[in-house]
Amino acid sequence: MKEPETEAKRRRAIAWAVALTAETHLAPEQYEWELLECYAKGTLTLDQVLQHLDTQIHHVLYRSKAVRLFTKGQLTDLLEQSRAWNEAHNLTGLLCYSSDGHFVQVLEGPAAEVRALFAKIRQDTRHYRVQALSNRATPLRWFADWRMAFTQVAPADFYWLIGYLEARGHNLVLPQLPVVEPHLLTLLDAFQKL
Ligand SMILES: Cc1cc2nc3c(=O)[nH]c(=O)nc-3n(C[C@H](O)[C@H](O)[C@H](O)COP(=O)(O)O)c2cc1C
Repeated sequence: MKEPETEAKRRRAIAWAVALTAETHLAPEQYEWELLECYAKGTLTLDQVLQHLDTQIHHVLYRSKAVRLFTKGQLTDLLEQSRAWNEAHNLTGLLCYSSDGHFVQVLEGPAAEVRALFAKIRQDTRHYRVQALSNRATPLRWFADWRMAFTQVAPADFYWLIGYLEARGHNLVLPQLPVVEPHLLTLLDAFQKL
């Protein structure tokens, strides 16, 4: 059983290093700290942590409103075009559309790619009132297997979701309504951990 023992030693060494550097200029930044926590929990290997430090994964979570309702065909075209671009640029995420024309989207990937795409999306004249709800480095991709996951929701569910995401910044506690759609559950779960 050599491997687990070495791993346990590594974890101890890292815990020591973190404790020793606390309150000095060498203390881990928030993002590095989150990566170390993922390592301690076993959700990231040390190699993955180092990889993340080299290529910081960034995410943007935003909401917006369609200028005109999207038809099914327009949504399919948007998704096809987006998935091709995202695949080629190492981007993943989720697009949520409510039948009364609101969007919530998560974009995640290398910081420069996310920023460049978000700048284009902001300029897109098919929607307006583009408002970022979260924009920061993140230790994990929430939608790692999705070049752009998609879910369509009823307006009432959308308003609940937005209320939940926006209330979080104000430390309000909302009554938990049942959300069953798996992508939305992933989003809510991830957002709680931010
Ligand atoms: C709500 C919404 C979400 C979008 N998401 C993506 C996306 O994930 N990836 C992508 O490449 N384009 C996405 N687009 C399209 C971009 O805004 C833009 O049309 C596309 O990047 C092509 O831009 P260009 O013609 O200036 O190169 C989205 C547009 C909207 C309105």
